[in-house]
Amino acid sequence: LDLNRLIDRMPKAELHMHLEGSLEPELLFALARRNGVEIGFDSEEALRAAYSFTKLQDFLDIFYAGLRVLRTERDFHEMTLAYLRRVRQDNVLHAEVFISPQAHTRRGIPFEAMFEGVDSALRQAERDLGMTAGLILGFQRQFDESDAFDVVRQAKPYADRFVGFGMGGPELGNPPAKFARVFAACRAAGHKVVAHAGEEGPAQFVCDAVDLLKLDRVDHGVRCADDPELVKRLAGEGVPLTVCPCSNIKLRVFDRMQDHNLATLLRAGVKVTINSDDPSYFGGYMNENFRQAATALDLTEAELYRLARNGMEAAFVTPARRAELL
Ligand code: ADE
Ligand code: ZN
Repeated sequence: LDLNRLIDRMPKAELHMHLEGSLEPELLFALARRNGVEIGFDSEEALRAAYSFTKLQDFLDIFYAGLRVLRTERDFHEMTLAYLRRVRQDNVLHAEVFISPQAHTRRGIPFEAMFEGVDSALRQAERDLGMTAGLILGFQRQFDESDAFDVVRQAKPYADRFVGFGMGGPELGNPPAKFARVFAACRAAGHKVVAHAGEEGPAQFVCDAVDLLKLDRVDHGVRCADDPELVKRLAGEGVPLTVCPCSNIKLRVFDRMQDHNLATLLRAGVKVTINSDDPSYFGGYMNENFRQAATALDLTEAELYRLARNGMEAAFVTPARRAELL
């Protein structure tokens, strides 16, 4: 069994990635230069050397600093297209990508420039790259409920051009309950909903995210393993988890890839998917995440296919598109 060949060839869907986390140092520097943004590093190598984290907040500080280079519609378009071109090489046939509107509108970037730049790249990829793509608008949970409601309002005119709402940012101190009413409004408007839960937060946050936010998928969710009853429930209800192996190692959710629990969860019947989260910062796009997990956890060929199929099954696509993907 040639593992690399199998992984390279397997059709995949990516369901958990932040576009701002796909900015490679080369593009980041190019945009900084073009827009006259000071980034505080002398070289691409120096910037890359700063990608050493011990916890989620270390990463978030660098992530929010880096995304300041994005200023125009063209910048958002170029970032998005660079990511899509890159993952098409990993045989990703469908991608659902996050953007964090508040990270941009709070800096004075018009919502429209952000949205149109991303959307035009997604549609271009659908025309030219032989793939489909959808956009998820991610709230930042460190801000207030009313700030999240502002995003919902700003997004309203674009309602038929994105697939759902999500939520990221620092989990500790910002439990799911804080956004129960926001998510209810999103669902009432007919959107799919996902949220990060059980990455740095406890199993209870995964439980609350499912019960209070009524999520269609849980992003990360790996800390659910601390509650065996919850694991049984997630498996029984078929709640997908968008797991990000390389991210979890870089942010010390697990010490080593051998300690990652995704194989255990998969074998317990949980609908686990594999994703890259912030590929520029965490050392790998889709295939690298599959490779590292497969090697460290002795995943079988059948398990690798199961993980890839889970991504297709958990995607927010039409029945016709799902049939094509499967
Ligand atoms: N924003 C970007 N990546 C994130 C992650 N892994 N967790 C929380 N918020 C994020
Ligand atoms: Zn994430």
